[in-house]
Amino acid sequence: MTSTPFSGAPANRRLICLIGFMGSGKTTVGALLARQLAWRFVDLDARIEEAAGLRITEIFERLGEPTFREIEHQQLANTLGQAAEDATPVILALGGGTFAQSTNITLLRDAGAALVWLDCPMDLLLARCVTMTGRPLFSDEHSFRQLYEQRLPFYRQATYRVDAGGAPRHVLEQILSLGILQPAAGVTKSTEEIIQP
Ligand code: S3P
Repeated sequence: MTSTPFSGAPANRRLICLIGFMGSGKTTVGALLARQLAWRFVDLDARIEEAAGLRITEIFERLGEPTFREIEHQQLANTLGQAAEDATPVILALGGGTFAQSTNITLLRDAGAALVWLDCPMDLLLARCVTMTGRPLFSDEHSFRQLYEQRLPFYRQATYRVDAGGAPRHVLEQILSLGILQPAAGVTKSTEEIIQP
């Protein structure tokens, strides 16, 4: 019997990776989710910046995208290695392009990660990225849409898809209702306690 990489139940329910295009809310939702469950939250872009001692934009400007991808791959490997040894389960927010690199797909498949795709409407992605700095791959609407189309086949391989077009609270609730995430022992916080109105 053959199996597709990320279909069906995840092998590892202690490692949840959020994937999706830039502006889909991976970092915001991931941090909230980890807080609610008392899991560890890791933002891959933050790990990359820490490792390089540079902001993401500076890495692109000074070192170029291929070097960025190498650092990204290395930091993903390190993070997955640490997660495997960690007693606390992990929510990992990937960068928008992390899951479009075949070597990263292999790492994530081998780790048995559950992949949750934050599927966000293009208009909202655009609106968010137009007003945010620090995204070197956002230059104009046309190339943004093109990149999105290229990435879609990768995102569609996710184990789970949630509608990320609403408020973080609603995205969080959809992920929790997937029934794959268990709070750490002794955690009783509700979504209302975590998300301030
Ligand atoms: C990238 C997305 C960014 C960051 C880098 C490259 C991409 O992360 O990793 O700028 O290739 O789409 P976010 O999706 O968190 O913006």
